[in-house]
Amino acid sequence: MIDKKQLDSNNIPRHIAIIMDGNGRWAKKKGLFRAAGHEKGTKAVREVVEGSAEIGIKHLTLYAFSTENWNRPKLEVDTLMKLLVSSLKKEIKTLQENNIQLNAIGNLQNLPKKARVELMEVIEKTKSNDHMVLTLALSYGSREELIKTIEEISIKVKNGVISPHLINEAVINEHLYTKNLPDVDLLIRTSGEQRISNFLLWQIAYAELYFTEILWPDFRRTDLFEAILNYQKRERRFGKTSEQLS
Ligand code: IPE
Ligand code: IPE
Ligand code: MG
Repeated sequence: MIDKKQLDSNNIPRHIAIIMDGNGRWAKKKGLFRAAGHEKGTKAVREVVEGSAEIGIKHLTLYAFSTENWNRPKLEVDTLMKLLVSSLKKEIKTLQENNIQLNAIGNLQNLPKKARVELMEVIEKTKSNDHMVLTLALSYGSREELIKTIEEISIKVKNGVISPHLINEAVINEHLYTKNLPDVDLLIRTSGEQRISNFLLWQIAYAELYFTEILWPDFRRTDLFEAILNYQKRERRFGKTSEQLS
């Protein structure tokens, strides 16, 4: 078990993003319905949110529901949306106690009204919290985000607001759902799958990737600390040579 004292406090990733995967397989292994896995996954969410706040992570982004997840059976989608509402109601306390601001990215218009209203309420209530920003990716798809970005910029170009040759990384960043977030430093995916599944494609350009076999409902803060310890042993060269960095 990794203790947070083992971490180098001078090299804590500024932005961690997590693909929380494996709820269904966790439930299946136990002979339970998939919903039980999603329910249990909320405990892991609390663990990583509190663990991240404890060690001074400034930005934590959790992939909770993808644009592709709308294609799951209606019953499962409904369960996930209900769980979102109940978790928001329950966890507002955790957010306030830990001075955490809630943020959301994705096509939020597609969420059921109840979920959207609850989400907006928690975002509003926590907007002055400044210890950490917790971003939930809901009905989020990176390609959809990029299409939206290109459309918005195109309209500005057409209306003469932006000149095409002035389009740069900063302009693109400003039009993404993640406009207020720094680039991802560490991307974690649980459950053994080694893919990105349409998550933050632009924003992870230079992220360190960490894959673990642990199924999301079993993920605990010590597993988060282990991922960070692993991250701290890496050399982020950003295209340079090792010699240039030292
Ligand atoms: C992650 O667990 C939760 C969501 C994608 C909403 P899954 O439900 O994908 O679990 P597996 O991958 O089927 O085990
Ligand atoms: C990615 O998990 C989306 C979330 C964790 C919310 P999926 O389980 O939907 O991804 P695939 O389908 O295995 O790539
Ligand atoms: Mg999955």
